[in-house]
Amino acid sequence: MAFYVTLHFQTMFSRIREDIANIMTRDPAARSAWEVITCYPGFHAIVIQRCAHWFWQNNFKWLGRFTSHIGRWLTGIEIHPGAQIGRRVFIDHGFGVVIGETAEVGDDCTIYQGVTLGGTSLSKGAKRHPTLGNGVIIGAGAQVLGSFTVGEGAKVGSNAVVVKPVPAGATAVGNPARILEKESGNARDETAARMFAAYGVTPNGDDPLSKALHGLIDNAATQEHQIERILAALKCAGIDCETLETAEKFDPDQLNKLVE
Ligand SMILES: CC(C)(COP(=O)(O)OP(=O)(O)OC[C@H]1O[C@@H](n2cnc3c(N)ncnc32)[C@H](O)[C@@H]1OP(=O)(O)O)[C@@H](O)C(=O)NCCC(=O)NCCS
Repeated sequence: MAFYVTLHFQTMFSRIREDIANIMTRDPAARSAWEVITCYPGFHAIVIQRCAHWFWQNNFKWLGRFTSHIGRWLTGIEIHPGAQIGRRVFIDHGFGVVIGETAEVGDDCTIYQGVTLGGTSLSKGAKRHPTLGNGVIIGAGAQVLGSFTVGEGAKVGSNAVVVKPVPAGATAVGNPARILEKESGNARDETAARMFAAYGVTPNGDDPLSKALHGLIDNAATQEHQIERILAALKCAGIDCETLETAEKFDPDQLNKLVE
């Protein structure tokens, strides 16, 4: 018995040392182990969750919930005791983080403040919360909702709302989240310059969906311009296109302003 208790404490302290070393490696603001131990709510939350999870797994359900609740009071981070948290998980700043009962967080994940790993289903006992593969980064304020997987090494942008699986290594941004396509820098810049320069819309707009809409508007404007020239040529040739000419005027500048 004494042997198992000793072993348990050894494992616990080696994990704590690992967590401290991990935070010092991953947060440039961390200056010493003492600072991590005393000033990092994400560190406190993980240590408390480990105790709560142990209670939960060993059928002390209320104690698990209560320990988790104390963790929430102290840190502003709410992790259900049933959630499975991997090794070296770093919750940076952490305030407002909520991790649901059936969530699984892989090793080496980073989670910033305001993140929810939440559920969309009310069915008791079922897997309702997401699974994060190893090395996933979830940006501040992102909401990951549902029982799907965010693949290993994927990144979720701050304030994204993710409702579908994210492939390993991919980056998801926006609401609802879209996967950023891996495009060569030059091709992308050329496309952006070609599509947006004519109407003075910044080629550095952040949202891929907004960029796509600007591209479609600009493309429609180019077609409109070409049709006008064709109509003018037809008129010169004596062909009457009166009905087409009086069609409602398309205003790309106004539409571009609407999707900014
Ligand atoms: C999503 C993220 C991981 C992408 O990082 P990255 O791989 O280096 O990608 P980039 O910064 O090159 O951005 C790629 C594209 O996504 C866009 N983008 C980045 N973050 C975005 C976000 N949160 N929402 C919407 N679009 C975003 C960029 O504008 C860029 O678009 P473009 O290529 O069409 O110009 C990063 O921007 C992010 O949000 N990290 C979270 C940081 C955080 O929460 N910090 C809190 C510290 S307290």
